[in-house]
Amino acid sequence: MNSILQVNDATKKFSGLMANEGITFHVDRGEIVGVVGPNGAGKTTLFNSLSGVHQLTRGSIIFDGTDITKLNSHKICKLGIGRTFQIPQAIVTLTVEENVLIGALCHTNNMKEARQHADETIEVCGLAALAKKPASILNVAQKKRLEIARAYATDPKLLLLDETMAGLTATERVESVKLIEKINAKGVSILMIEHNMDVVMRVSNRVIVLDAGKVLAIGTPEEVTSNEAVINAYLGGGKKDA
Ligand SMILES: Nc1ncnc2c1ncn2[C@@H]1O[C@H](COP(=O)(O)OP(=O)(O)O)[C@@H](O)[C@H]1O
Ligand SMILES: [Mg+2]
Repeated sequence: MNSILQVNDATKKFSGLMANEGITFHVDRGEIVGVVGPNGAGKTTLFNSLSGVHQLTRGSIIFDGTDITKLNSHKICKLGIGRTFQIPQAIVTLTVEENVLIGALCHTNNMKEARQHADETIEVCGLAALAKKPASILNVAQKKRLEIARAYATDPKLLLLDETMAGLTATERVESVKLIEKINAKGVSILMIEHNMDVVMRVSNRVIVLDAGKVLAIGTPEEVTSNEAVINAYLGGGKKDA
């Protein structure tokens, strides 16, 4: 089986609202898959279901051969799905190193091993110079980078990135793309929500377009950008809320 993730008919209802409805897609091993769609399309809701923050109303999620549909977030993290949050979750009173260590402790209970893994992650993520600094002093780009480091430190097979480039300058985005590609080159599959279309189309093998909780299109960047429904509903409709 080549897919690291298979999502079938993922549906999440919040009282009267269908935040996700009938979402079916897969992520192949080693793939980078982009998730785009206007605000409120249901992108973060999908990530919350995949990472066990809440459970699906209907549908199933198979990760690396295991049905994780009903598992909690801790178990899912242990199985190998790491995620970042749209609003960075770093504990600002802790240092960069301590924050990354929290992620590493999902990967191992051995403190020495966790520290070593955290150090390696910090190095890969280009945060070594800031390791001993409190997270509170980081700028937006550094906070986003720490968020990736925290998630990557859990040693994921699949990393879910929720708008890790929002608020970054063009130069910072280039650096962030380099980091994502570096992590991917280490064998980590990536599912990334991203508003910046240049970035999504450049780094993604395939792109999922969500609109009003449903899949509007899935395909290569070329396929989705030439898809008429996508052009009408999203790309051409002035809704590109970058
Ligand atoms: N925990 C929740 N309770 C109720 N409604 C929610 C909850 N989370 C998200 N929603 C609603 O689901 C819809 C999709 O939200 P979200 O997944 O955050 O969209 P996106 O990430 O694409 O901007 C929105 O209408 C949002 O208000
Ligand atoms: Mg969101």
